[in-house]
Amino acid sequence: MCGITGYIGFREAKPIIIKGLQRLEYRGYDSAGIFLFDGKKLNVSKTKGKVADLEKILENKSTKGNIGFGHTRWATHGVPNDINSHPHTSQSGKITIVHNGIIENYDTLKKELISRGYVFQSDTDTEVLVNLIEEIKKKHNVKLGKAVQLALTNVVGAYAIAVFDVEKPNELVVARLGSPIAIGIGKDNSEFFIASDASPFIEYTKNAIYLEDEEMAVIKLNRDIRIRKIKSDSLVKHDIQELTLSLEQIEKGGYDHFMLKEIHEQPKAIIDTYRGRMLPDEGLIKMAGIDDNIDRFLNAKRIIIVACGTSWHAGLVGEYLFEDLARIPVEVEYASEFRYRNPIITENDIVIAISQSGETADTLAAIKLAKSKGAFVFGVCNVVGSSIARETDAGAYTHAGPEIGVASTKAFTTQITVLSLIALKLGKENGSLSTSDFRAYLHTMQLIPSKVEKLLKIDAQVKHIASVYKDSKNCLYLGRGFNFPVALEGALKLKEISYIHAEGYPAAEMKHGPIALIDENMPIFVIATNKGHYEKVVSNIQEIKSRAGKIIAIVTEGDVTVKAIADHVIEIPDTEEAFTPLLTTIPLQLLSYHIALMLDKNVDQPRNLAKAVTVE
Ligand code: G6P
Repeated sequence: MCGITGYIGFREAKPIIIKGLQRLEYRGYDSAGIFLFDGKKLNVSKTKGKVADLEKILENKSTKGNIGFGHTRWATHGVPNDINSHPHTSQSGKITIVHNGIIENYDTLKKELISRGYVFQSDTDTEVLVNLIEEIKKKHNVKLGKAVQLALTNVVGAYAIAVFDVEKPNELVVARLGSPIAIGIGKDNSEFFIASDASPFIEYTKNAIYLEDEEMAVIKLNRDIRIRKIKSDSLVKHDIQELTLSLEQIEKGGYDHFMLKEIHEQPKAIIDTYRGRMLPDEGLIKMAGIDDNIDRFLNAKRIIIVACGTSWHAGLVGEYLFEDLARIPVEVEYASEFRYRNPIITENDIVIAISQSGETADTLAAIKLAKSKGAFVFGVCNVVGSSIARETDAGAYTHAGPEIGVASTKAFTTQITVLSLIALKLGKENGSLSTSDFRAYLHTMQLIPSKVEKLLKIDAQVKHIASVYKDSKNCLYLGRGFNFPVALEGALKLKEISYIHAEGYPAAEMKHGPIALIDENMPIFVIATNKGHYEKVVSNIQEIKSRAGKIIAIVTEGDVTVKAIADHVIEIPDTEEAFTPLLTTIPLQLLSYHIALMLDKNVDQPRNLAKAVTVE
């Protein structure tokens, strides 16, 4: 993981880099560092902790410069401490680097460099890389760009790097394999920005280039950017992309936390996701990625969904949607398991990869594996132009807008929205849904955003429930059918940001184990909406009640039976069963948010986690 940002131009680099690092902190936040070039030497400041801690250190330093880069870290090699923080500088003190990724063969390279007299300060793979660059530069008597290129041909692993050499004070060298790098281009090449995503430079330029895998760029101030393939050395020309991201989208907009802002953005995010695609009055769903490949979808023997984390939970909802509405068999796989399991994939399979960031290493690797076996791979991503969006054969973006809180919220509901649209469309096309049912679904779907809006107003009630259960040590989440994945997601949200142990279970499975945990101290969140298996869930609730468990039930408005037994109930508006996950998930998101806040946890940046997991 980790975030990288840098600047070369005519402005003071420090404030640009610090602000950029704050925007990239979602990528990792266990240490932070910066280098600034004052025209003579490298000035590196780094520390364990967050960007705010780095800022404190910088308050006592007067270092200035128009060139520099910074790093916010999610540790892979070496514990988070000051020494292991980036940037890392070569033995001569002339070359410095920041790195996002993992150098897998760093140990072999390190031994080789030690035998040549290099002494290492840190435990990181990155310090090995910067010294390898230095060694190659000396040995082959080449300039920085060539040395970086040759060094990278010796490296096994993943990287996005930025490198600076005092002997080449007007250039920055960047390269990528597996981890993203965006280059922002200022007017007349008078300044350039680099970053893991475009957010650090959005107020300075809307023009950007995204490097592809195995490419490097030498960025020369007042001249140009030269991009080449690392292995073949051939020059590459990339179109300059115009960024649509706005500053407003990446700021908190009056909310205390990004997570809360993003929870509240869901009605709009869902509308943005189906806008132009779902046309209820015409009885149509138009999705270019599906329309262009409709025969493949209609002839598919099965769909395999691969994803990680919250996106995997959306995939599980997708399984219910596809099987119920389109009668297509579905398997949902953790990308990390799928890629190492020698899975059976045929040319008649469609693999759907779901990812908010579009950068998750395991999902990306699963896609590559599926493609190598001849499957057609369809991506459902939020970040436009991300690696997964580019690697897949076709796809549909969720239009959630930037999601910055590490705990995923609006990405989940918009992923379910896209999967609902695909399932409905395929159901209609393959005859599993009648025209009238299809139209009825579209009209029902159109009402979902206003129902989410209504649910967001029950915040005070959810807050009260949070205050009652905030000190629990364990929690259980139960759901059936479409809402079993919501139970998993509810539990994940709670553990991610409040560090309370929580488990999601299919309600009926409770009696095969978790029931042993139930006593008067155990809160159990049960999704018991009126459709599907209502009576069965009511029986499960009775079983909990007889064992003194505390029941917090999510029910449909007007419910009587569960209300009579549960300790607390949260009502959701009525809708089709297939769309209930879009509603039941909202109070569970709010609940986790409030509990974490009451426990004084860092809601947006929970410990040990990162938003984009670009390592295996
Ligand atoms: C990390 C994030 C989760 C996310 C998962 C998958 O673990 O903290 O919120 O669900 O990665 O990420 P993706 O970007 O592929 O959806």
